[in-house]
Amino acid sequence: MSVENLADRAAELRSAIHEHIYRYNVLSDPIITDAEYDALLNELREIETEHPDLITPDSPTQRVGSDLSEDLPKVTHPRSILSLSNAYSEDDIRAWRQRIGRLLPEDVQLEYVVEPKFDGLTVVVTYENGILVNAATRGNGEVGDDVTPNVRTVRTVPLKIPVSADGPEVPSRLVVRGEVLFLKQDFQALNERMREAGLTLFANARNTASGALKQKDARITSARPLTMYCYSIVDANGDVPDSQWKTLHYLRDLGFLTADEVIRCFDNLDDTIAYVMGYAEHRHDLFYEIDGLVIKVNHLATAAELGVVGKDPRGAVAYKFPAEEATTRLRDVVWNVGRTGVLTPNAVLDPVPIGGVIVKQASLHNYDLIASKDIRIGDNVVVKRSGDVIPYVVGPVLPARMGEERPVEPPLICPVCGSPVERDEDEVALYCTNPACSERIARNVEYFVSRGAMDIDGLGERSVRLLLDLGLIHDEADIFYVKPDDLMPLEGFGEKRVENLISSIERAKDRPLARLVAALGIRGVGFTTAEVLVEHYHSLDALAAADTDALEAVGGVGPHTAQSLAEWFDEPRNLALIEKLHGAGVRLEETPEEGAIVSDKLVGLTFVLTGTLPTLTRDDASDLIQKHGGKVTGSVSKKTSYVVAGEAPGSKLDKAQKLGVPILDEAGLIELVSGE
Ligand code: IVH
Repeated sequence: MSVENLADRAAELRSAIHEHIYRYNVLSDPIITDAEYDALLNELREIETEHPDLITPDSPTQRVGSDLSEDLPKVTHPRSILSLSNAYSEDDIRAWRQRIGRLLPEDVQLEYVVEPKFDGLTVVVTYENGILVNAATRGNGEVGDDVTPNVRTVRTVPLKIPVSADGPEVPSRLVVRGEVLFLKQDFQALNERMREAGLTLFANARNTASGALKQKDARITSARPLTMYCYSIVDANGDVPDSQWKTLHYLRDLGFLTADEVIRCFDNLDDTIAYVMGYAEHRHDLFYEIDGLVIKVNHLATAAELGVVGKDPRGAVAYKFPAEEATTRLRDVVWNVGRTGVLTPNAVLDPVPIGGVIVKQASLHNYDLIASKDIRIGDNVVVKRSGDVIPYVVGPVLPARMGEERPVEPPLICPVCGSPVERDEDEVALYCTNPACSERIARNVEYFVSRGAMDIDGLGERSVRLLLDLGLIHDEADIFYVKPDDLMPLEGFGEKRVENLISSIERAKDRPLARLVAALGIRGVGFTTAEVLVEHYHSLDALAAADTDALEAVGGVGPHTAQSLAEWFDEPRNLALIEKLHGAGVRLEETPEEGAIVSDKLVGLTFVLTGTLPTLTRDDASDLIQKHGGKVTGSVSKKTSYVVAGEAPGSKLDKAQKLGVPILDEAGLIELVSGE
């Protein structure tokens, strides 16, 4: 390419990269994959290295990465907090080895440590005489934000090292680097609490972790259960290990959390590469998100001698797993009807392989998302699939638009029963308004019989649809009237199976009333709300007779749920259903003794309550804990399993934090008793 053409290409790359940085960071709506982004940046870097005169001050290559916040005090790192260069293939890894080989004595045999590449944020923690005195973000690599009070709330960060009395001796000053992140289950639980509280869900674990870490009020951070994994020593005043492998074990012995389940040490590159490439299929088995593995030269003096290019040390390289995204054409949008009538849009795609499977359909979440991202039929769209997550459409590739794409229209009628579609004022969902919609009924029956609801063993989704299609049942209650003779002629229903099914239907008649109330699938009424309702009303008839004001006065029931309960019990179809349940001898009442022990979920756990909870009184909360087999005590000790803290908590909260006892809010407690 001529220099003029190269100059044009560099300008084109600069403007494209700026656009992608903006989409990624400001809009949180990237339209290319990380690998594609890196390829653009690398191409620009190469041009600029060959032709330094083409570097412009506004080139993205000149930007020093910084995430400093204006609101927090600053900390100067004792040494530069470096980054990593990336590799995307075996060839890239071998090229890295060749590059460093040129700087090393010939025939040197290197050892390599492999670690997870955590998808979180770097945090640097400083200990003086074993006491945590400071914690800072990476910032621009030289200066970071002081987030000490926040990091103190992170359960896995020791406040004092060594944690165990027989741990190794600690240098008078030790600076450790690690990554702060959400464990997947903690992020899900946090979002579940947001959902219960009717708040907007967090979309991205990494951004949420970053937000939590930079809160000015550490109490907010403490309500977001973060975790920190440690992987290197930045600086020390005293003896520390001379290899990466020994460092990881030393950190673990001091009481830091390290990724023991992933880390390996190899004495040759072939084994290292085999492990790294093979790991991609296990990446989702971990409790946390990783976006690759890091390969590090084990011997730290050798790694240091290799030096640094820009911000990237030569002694390590990050292997990024193959993208779990692809672009393909959006052929159509179809609408599925859920149990509560919610219509969810699904993308019909030109089949495309992503991470080893062919994807033909993907979720579009809801109509607002389609509209806000301006996704059109005929668009090229980015589709993402990661692990067990249902593939979803990230967004359209706008530059690929030809002009013939059609906007997606929200449905005016239910695609199954043709009834008008409604939209709740402050909800993004569209609903089919017909409680007798055949699809809604099928979904309701499936939910009714599922585990956690009435738990009717042997009635799966397929059998439910079969019974409905044959007219053997028309709703949930009809299941209790099914006779062996109805089932025997059906394909796949042998004598034994029919016998088992009939006896599990019999057993289901006597489930605790709260299970039945939850199984009815009333919008907003999960198992916990059902329990609260049953405790208050003791029978389905009494519950049916309650008006919205009365319902709202029951702790834990919000106005939306009260409204949807009242509507549900107003519906003639549902009243008929209750009648049939009565007739079949299903238990519709609960005597107080029977309500005593509901589950054994909290057996062996000890709780301490402090402060005022938003909806439950202290007695309610104690009752709830005891009904699930837990114990409530008055003071916090090392044996306390959880402290449940509300508004204006007392010194018990401080004590819990000191002892590292996990802290729950009310929603967290409810989560604990309602989880599987
Ligand atoms: S080592 C010289 N090890 O990835 C030390 N970094 O893309 C350089 N990261 O800024 C970093 N897991 O925040 C290292 N096991 C690991 C890591 C890791 C995640 C992050 C780190 C770094 C970024 C570079």
